[in-house]
This record gives sequence, structure tokens and C-alpha cells, in this order.
Amino acid sequence: MKIIEAKDIVYKYPDGTKALDNINFAVEKGDMVALLGPNGAGKSTLFLHFNGILEPSSGEIDVDGEKLNYKKKSLLRVRQFVGIVFQNPDDQLFAPTVEEDVAFGPLNIGLTQEETKKRVKDSLRKVGMEGFEKKPPHHLSGGQKKRIAIAGILAMDPKVMILDEPTSGLDPKGASKILKLLYELNAEGMTIIISTHDVDLVPIYAKNIHVIKDGKIIKKGSPHEVFDDVSVIRKADLRLPRIAHLSEILDKQDHFKMSDSYPLTIGEARKSFMEFIDK
Ligand SMILES: Nc1ncnc2c1ncn2[C@@H]1O[C@H](COP(=O)(O)OP(=O)(O)OP(=O)(O)O)[C@@H](O)[C@H]1O
Ligand SMILES: [Mg+2]
Repeated sequence: MKIIEAKDIVYKYPDGTKALDNINFAVEKGDMVALLGPNGAGKSTLFLHFNGILEPSSGEIDVDGEKLNYKKKSLLRVRQFVGIVFQNPDDQLFAPTVEEDVAFGPLNIGLTQEETKKRVKDSLRKVGMEGFEKKPPHHLSGGQKKRIAIAGILAMDPKVMILDEPTSGLDPKGASKILKLLYELNAEGMTIIISTHDVDLVPIYAKNIHVIKDGKIIKKGSPHEVFDDVSVIRKADLRLPRIAHLSEILDKQDHFKMSDSYPLTIGEARKSFMEFIDK
């Protein structure tokens, strides 16, 4: 069942920029999808359509099988169902302290003080930010702000969580930790959609990838379907994961080919290598 669907979406900003050009994009319930594309491709613009922050110039957004309605009451309901973590945490964080910021969403949907407290604690622990409760968000580092922004949406327990470049600005351990958390949330049933440029991490976590360029989806498929299509990767200013790039060099320059399709993760490379040695 499709939980989020964009049908023939065109979006023009007030200055006339056509940021989305007839986008069709659907995500199945329980999926973990990555949207890959270069700067200015339209990733953030598309995401802002999924909980009604932007209304398409033409086309339709469906959430959980229903056409999105832009009346205030419906939007409130949609925003409980679909949580969006903005690309820039400064667009999201506003309360005087971290704990008030993370508590805002749960309190706003009418949860008790007690339940809210529990959710704030859990969410901060999950993003590795316990101990920062009393700090003003604007005194945090960029990566710390990003984690608090993620905690704020996590605390709402949405059915669909959309994260616009969740790992940008995070250190390698922090990035892996957030992606691992998203992977676990997905295993528990949450639908996850992320945008990213991190081609090394994407194949480890995403089940499906959509590539966007100039406001158009130019490819969709499994990580292998997408990364095996070199012309698309080049067109979207992306690159192969490092491990795939190494395999490509070994194949083309050293005539050492372990498997038909280049491995995208260290785990895959290891498996091909061991199989190769066994042969
Ligand atoms: N408020 C705005 N007014 C006018 N044009 C805008 C506005 N916001 C974005 N755009 C334009 O819309 C296009 C898509 O921008 P968007 O922010 O969606 O790209 P993106 O894929 O998220 O890029 P990035 O990887 O840099 O975050 C770009 O050409 C951008 O310049
Ligand atoms: Mg963006």
C-alpha cells in the first residue's frame, strides 16, 4: 500500500523558478527510501509537499491513500502522521531550551506531561543527546542541533518520517548512529524517506532509491539498479560508493573482476572476495 504519493507534481516558487517538473513519486508503507540528487535538484521542495507546507502548482499529493487537504485542521492531522526534519535545524528549533523544543510537538498533540517527559527522554537518548536538556538550542554545534531536530520529530512518533539530509554536518560516528537508528525505526514499521548525498551510506540502509535532477525523477530502483546505471550517476553529479569505485578500478585496470555487479558495501565486497578466493 502506498503511504505517500506525489502525482504529476509541478511546483513554481513565487519568483517563477520551476523547482518540480511533473514529479511522480510513491513510497510503499514500511519502505526505507533515499532521494539522491545534486544541489538544487528539488529534494527539499518535494519533501515540503509531503505534509502540506507547500501546495503544488498542479498535481496531487496523497497521504495514506487520501488526497491531501490544505485546511488547517486536516494539516494538523497530516503533520502528526508525517514528520519532517528540515535540512537546516535553525528552521526548526525555536524553544529556549532543548527539552522544551523536543516537548513542543508531543504537548501540542495533547499528550500528558508525564508521557511527554518520557518521550523527550527517549528521543534524546536515541540521538545521543541526553544531558543537553537545559541548553539553549542556539548554543549547540551544527551537528548537535541536527540531532535535536531529529529528536523533536521522533518524539511525535509519526508513521512516516522524512529527513532532509539527516547526516549532513554529523561526524562519521554520529552519521552512522542516526542511520542505524532510522534502520531500527524502519524495522519496527516506520516508513522512512531521506534525502542525502552520502552514496557510501545509502546502499547499507536504503531499500529503494529515487534519483532527482532538475525537478524530475530520472531513475528509481534498488541500490544496485541505480548504481549499475553509470550514466544516471554521472548525470546527477553523484559518484559510486568508494568500495564500488575500487572494484571498478580493479576490473578495468587490473582485469580483476570479483562479481558481475560492483559491490556497493563493504559487506558485499567481503562476500564476493571470499567467494572468489574459494573458487
Ligand atoms: N524560496 C525559494 N524561492 C525561489 N526559488 C527557490 C526557493 N527555494 C528553492 N528554490 C529553487 O528551487 C530549486 C530546488 O531547490 P531545493 O532547495 O528543493 O533543492 P535541493 O535538491 O534540496 O538542493 P540541496 O541539495 O542544495 O539542498 C533550486 O533551483 C532553488 O534555487
Ligand atoms: Mg535541500
